[in-house]
Amino acid sequence: MKKISSTTVLILASLLVSFNAPASNNGIRLDSANTDINNQKSLQNGAKLFMNYCSGCHSISFMRYNRIGKDLGFSNADVEKHLMFNANKIGERVISSMSKTGAVKWFGLSPPDLSLVARSKGTDWIYTYLRSFYKDKSRPFGVNNKILQNVSMPDVLWELKQNKSSADFDQTVRDITNFLDYVGEPAKLVRFQLGYKVLGFLSILLVFSYLLKKEYWKDVKYGKWRAKD
Ligand code: HEC
Repeated sequence: MKKISSTTVLILASLLVSFNAPASNNGIRLDSANTDINNQKSLQNGAKLFMNYCSGCHSISFMRYNRIGKDLGFSNADVEKHLMFNANKIGERVISSMSKTGAVKWFGLSPPDLSLVARSKGTDWIYTYLRSFYKDKSRPFGVNNKILQNVSMPDVLWELKQNKSSADFDQTVRDITNFLDYVGEPAKLVRFQLGYKVLGFLSILLVFSYLLKKEYWKDVKYGKWRAKD
């Protein structure tokens, strides 16, 4: 018995540790991303930014353009105008135009697919990562990253960083992060809406259950059921 309980404790402890283990961040404290999946304007802006600044290298192969359009409230014409740079048909998946061999030649590795990066690394990690590039002459692209040392990705947002106030730039990065959070779990949007409906239904049910309970207990309390025997 004692043996079982100590094994159980061990398993539970290791589970706790693995759930809490943050993505490797080089010992740097991650900034809080503060993204809001219900903010459609931020998601729309994030989608546009992603297609402009990231989709040349990174695929999000789990997503199709028309699904993004439908979920984020873009019309088909808007999707074609603002999002589809690497595709001809609206039903296509979001695949980067970069060839694998080219990528390996230029970056030493092919840029990872970002479909699930918000799930594996977390939004705080992405938000901090994109804001942690710094100049480093020894690197091929002249930049390095505080939380991903010797990074092979260039600082693609450097121009925005220069042209915007720091609050505006943070919001830009927050919007991209928010979009990647949505991409990691598109059903989250539906789930939230369903959640409100279910809670609404349960609170209405509560009123009727309470009234029913009162009705039943009225008899018990006043002993009417006894009088019938
Ligand atoms: C010029 C090509 C290129 C562009 C454009 C680019 N990236 Fe990258 N990105 C890379 C490469 C290469 C890596 C791999 C870096 C490494 O592991 O050293 C990477 C890594 C990443 C990672 C880490 C993924 C992981 O699991 O380790 C994230 C997150 C990321 N990029 C997000 C973005 C976002 C968001 C944008 C657009 C704002 C963007 N990238 C634009 C090439 C690019």
